[in-house]
Amino acid sequence: MDYRQSPNLSLRTKVSSDRLEVSLEEDDLGEPQNDEIVVRVEASPVNPSDLGLIFGAADPRRAIVKEAGGRRRLVIPLDERQAGAMAARRDLSLCPGLEGAGTVVDASKRHEALIGRTVAIFGGGMYSRFRRISVDDCLLYPEGTAPASCASSFVNPLTVLGFLETMRDEGHKALVHTAAASNLGQMLVKVCLADGIDLISIVRSPEQARLLEAIGAKHVLNSKDEGFRGRLKDLVRETGATLGFDAIGGGPLACDILTAMERAFTPKTFSMYGSVVNKQVYVYGMLDSKTIEIRRTVGAAWGVGGWLMMNRMAALGSARVDKLKQRVVREIDTSFRSNFNATIGLEDMVDPELVIKMIGLETGAKYLLDPSLNGPRP
Ligand SMILES: NC(=O)c1ccc[n+]([C@@H]2O[C@H](COP(=O)([O-])OP(=O)(O)OC[C@H]3O[C@@H](n4cnc5c(N)ncnc54)[C@H](OP(=O)(O)O)[C@@H]3O)[C@@H](O)[C@H]2O)c1
Repeated sequence: MDYRQSPNLSLRTKVSSDRLEVSLEEDDLGEPQNDEIVVRVEASPVNPSDLGLIFGAADPRRAIVKEAGGRRRLVIPLDERQAGAMAARRDLSLCPGLEGAGTVVDASKRHEALIGRTVAIFGGGMYSRFRRISVDDCLLYPEGTAPASCASSFVNPLTVLGFLETMRDEGHKALVHTAAASNLGQMLVKVCLADGIDLISIVRSPEQARLLEAIGAKHVLNSKDEGFRGRLKDLVRETGATLGFDAIGGGPLACDILTAMERAFTPKTFSMYGSVVNKQVYVYGMLDSKTIEIRRTVGAAWGVGGWLMMNRMAALGSARVDKLKQRVVREIDTSFRSNFNATIGLEDMVDPELVIKMIGLETGAKYLLDPSLNGPRP
């Protein structure tokens, strides 16, 4: 399909005073300027953060399907609290899709050599048949690379590598990780193995534990097992882990990790202040939106903070980030390989049944979107 001959189709999410609408809209892409190329998007992961942008505070289980002009759209009624929570984006028509990959189909004069090449993109707005974008937001892959294999080149890989940069910069030597059977958690296992870093992976089912052990994870704990807290303390002592990355957020797990660290490093000589070892948990996801519970079992030297890949990359600076990106390109089929449940088309994003499956965020149930597919998935 030539992008000049038909309007560009993209997914849109828009909040008004009493509803959120998810629809497919047409727009005109325009010609590539200066540093720009035009990419036919062939693969873009549906990351948890993309679902966050699409649905925000709305409840997709209340979606009503409407049809107009042969196109389906989802309309989700909002109560006052939900509408208030999304006031900052009211009336903005947003195109989701943080990252993806595809083939360069057009370019400004100075980048014509890129036509036909596969690039991965980190620039938002990827749930679109075509994307016009600056080359600075792209990673060039070797000729013949399939877009599906490099669609997740940024969000999870740079987060994993960012964790390790934070670990080194802040003087820690080993890590604790939660919701650890996620795509990201599996990447972290592989990278830690390759780099000789001790990692304690916390999951919530025996199947997830087996999945991680099958890829070589050395220390896996199931938070639902009896004796979990004691075993966590023992492993923290054995590995020296004083830094945790928690994707769950809500509930007691962040505190359980800090408490295990406090108990593992309690000084032999009594001190009423407990351990002087600095213990830190960064909450980097919101898989559970409940309150983060911190009990006073964590001693005196502890911290809990937020962690966002984009902020961390900005702090590292472009030279360090470029090195991380080149590692991603080298290891995209090994350490940074993502697993997808199915490939879907743009029209599937307005299928209420599929949307309910997607927001479940279950292990192994992640979807890859291919906007170049015509019609719903076969
Ligand atoms: N801060 C950042 O910069 C940043 C960057 C990238 C990713 N992230 C976050 O990283 C996390 C993983 O992303 P991904 O793409 O790798 O996800 P994914 O492959 O879709 O996996 C999601 C995992 O979360 C688990 N999970 C879901 N709800 C849970 C809950 N309430 N308690 C415990 N576990 C739960 C699932 O396990 P079950 O099968 O047991 O449900 C599954 O293993 C997400 O939270 C994402 O937002 C943050």
